[in-house]
Amino acid sequence: MAWSERQLAMLRAMGVRLFVPTAPAPAPPERPVRPATAPAQALPTMPADMAQGEAPHVLPADAPLALPVATPHALPAAVAGLDWSALREAVAACRACRLCESRKQTVFGVGHEHARWMVIGEAPGAQEDVQGEPFVGAAGQLLDAMLRALDLSRAADGDPARRVFIANTLKCRPPGNRNPQPDELAACEPFLSRQIELVQPRIILAMGRFAVQSLLRTNEAIGRLRGRVHRYQGVPLVVTYHPAYLLRNLTDKARAWEDLCLAAQVVEQDRTDAAAG
Ligand code: URA
Repeated sequence: MAWSERQLAMLRAMGVRLFVPTAPAPAPPERPVRPATAPAQALPTMPADMAQGEAPHVLPADAPLALPVATPHALPAAVAGLDWSALREAVAACRACRLCESRKQTVFGVGHEHARWMVIGEAPGAQEDVQGEPFVGAAGQLLDAMLRALDLSRAADGDPARRVFIANTLKCRPPGNRNPQPDELAACEPFLSRQIELVQPRIILAMGRFAVQSLLRTNEAIGRLRGRVHRYQGVPLVVTYHPAYLLRNLTDKARAWEDLCLAAQVVEQDRTDAAAG
């Protein structure tokens, strides 16, 4: 597969090492080839000297995208039916769990309100707590690089294909960045659930153990859940590693890239199906 300079730059930014042949590249296609249309078997493979652990579970390109369904909590009446501004106010005023005592501010989410992609992380960290925006620290920079590699941007407004909405399972920072507690996740989930209802994304990318396990109601490890398409509230959901984890585990970046390509395939399939009527 021929990678464009931009894609290669993004993969390098993610720390993915590729073997790039020195032979002259074929003439570029008239339109750039986007990862969204790349078949799964054409993805870059991890060099043998970097490979560790179990092989990634990647679906063959023609595998059906059907899947186990997670049943969400019913939305409490107080949240069901809220529009964006009422939901923002409800989150900002929330005192449903102990995290309201220590937060500087709530972190609602960022991006386009009708994005095709929705990225769901774990919880705000120290910088997010100060700035009120998700993923603004080091992990956020990696997330932005991953999104750029897919031609997506949290700032995108004009082109619907580039829009993404980024949110967390928790809207308040756990003190000292400790792990989210089950009662905190349960208390906060109605907000996320309503955000998903309002955005109506074509794909959810769930990042990291806490987001993944709480959305899918499972204790399974990410390594066993990735490589297939799940559903949450009827929306296709792809599982991947948390960017903060990827910063420490460079070899799993290639797997994360596979996950992004799988998610992009889902969006592309949805677009093709919609065009076919
Ligand atoms: N990690 C997350 O999961 N979310 C953030 O907003 C920041 C770091």
